[in-house]
Amino acid sequence: MTGTSTRWAGAEQLRSRIAAELARTRARTALLTEAVDEDDLMRQHSPLMSPLVWDLAHVGNQEELWLVRDVGGREPVRHDIDDLYDAFKQPRRDRPTLPLLPPAEARAYLLTVRDKVLDLLDRVAFTERPLVADGFAFGMIVQHEQQHDETMLATHQLRAGPAVLHAPPPPEPRARVDAEVLVPAGEFTMGTDTDAWALDNERPAHRVQLPAYVIDAAPVTNGRYCEFIADGGYDDPRWWSPAGWRHRREAGLSAPAHWRRDADGWACRRFGRWAPVRDDEPVVHVCFHEAQAYAAWCGKRLPTEAEWEKAARWDPATGRSRRYPWGDEDPAAEHANLGQRHLWPAPVGAYPAGASPLGVHQLIGDVWEWTSTAFRGYPGFTAFPYREYSEVFFGDEHRVLRGGSFGTDRAACRGTFRNWDYPIRRQIFSGFRCARDARPEETQS
Ligand code: AVJ
Ligand code: FE
Repeated sequence: MTGTSTRWAGAEQLRSRIAAELARTRARTALLTEAVDEDDLMRQHSPLMSPLVWDLAHVGNQEELWLVRDVGGREPVRHDIDDLYDAFKQPRRDRPTLPLLPPAEARAYLLTVRDKVLDLLDRVAFTERPLVADGFAFGMIVQHEQQHDETMLATHQLRAGPAVLHAPPPPEPRARVDAEVLVPAGEFTMGTDTDAWALDNERPAHRVQLPAYVIDAAPVTNGRYCEFIADGGYDDPRWWSPAGWRHRREAGLSAPAHWRRDADGWACRRFGRWAPVRDDEPVVHVCFHEAQAYAAWCGKRLPTEAEWEKAARWDPATGRSRRYPWGDEDPAAEHANLGQRHLWPAPVGAYPAGASPLGVHQLIGDVWEWTSTAFRGYPGFTAFPYREYSEVFFGDEHRVLRGGSFGTDRAACRGTFRNWDYPIRRQIFSGFRCARDARPEETQS
């Protein structure tokens, strides 16, 4: 038995839970796409991102493909647009030139699909068929829309012009946080077989043996990262991998994305507003290569994906792997900075209730954390329900990120959740923490 089963008491309870998640998610999609005008929705704000109106209709098209057609066995709503919203058939740079549904038509399409899905939800039998057991397909579609909502939030961060998104600042620090935490040697369970809405790449659960290691108790802060910059870290090839140094030169990197140097120090742009860089907040918008160089500069390294997950899930009292650092309960506001409740990472010490038993803070929320691990399937991996969710991305080109950011919804974030991207990417809400091997004298009890 690994982790806690998240089976629901009955079909009716599952139905209302799904309806609530669908509605909550659609409200976020609406907020992100109603904040700007029609012209802005159709425009490409960065070659890395789709026009927001593409994400909008793509979310509806996936809901139609998986729920209306596959689970429901119903007639297509719009067969004619499948290719337009197929991410594999349409490279991002071409998306603004496609004959996309204009905003009003895209919204009407989403409404039509959603009506059919709610009708289906009323009658669907949650049989043992893997796609519908425990409402998996509905959970997958909720997570898919939430993932695109985070992508749309990243598009908002790249768009020029005055601020259109508003949220209160994250909470202030309320606990002192140690610098580092020792995680003792031993086996733990990585991945899950029991979390009903976990995606294929989180499965199966398997035992992993790790030597003792030391991991930062919090993500690397702006203050620490500024020391790396001030020490000439960006100009010293000793800290960078060969590929990292090549990228650092070609891309002209000299600070995290969205930073500029003012008379009174560093400032950063967040969703259309400039603010002074605050020392105690986790650094965000750095690529894997910058994270790796920082870690080398301070005599450490990035954690492996397994080290990150053991720090986040392993309970020293029972030896069991839990769903989150704080236990098995779903994330609440006091646990983590998730769900776009705030528009930037919270200072270190802001979430003591979300710390792990060993005292590792802010593993969930705030910033996605780069790990040193390339994205691959776990031993015994099987693609489900489609190869294009994970399997086609396996290999050395992508690095795994863990933990979710301030822009990740709780439905798309857990101790086993795996994200991935190219090591040069920093338009995502990415930061990191460091790790190192334990020294022999540290492991003597
Ligand atoms: C898991 C975030 C890398 O956005 O490319 C969305 C999620 N998959 N639609 C992505 C996804 C299909 C994916 N990431
Ligand atoms: Fe998608």
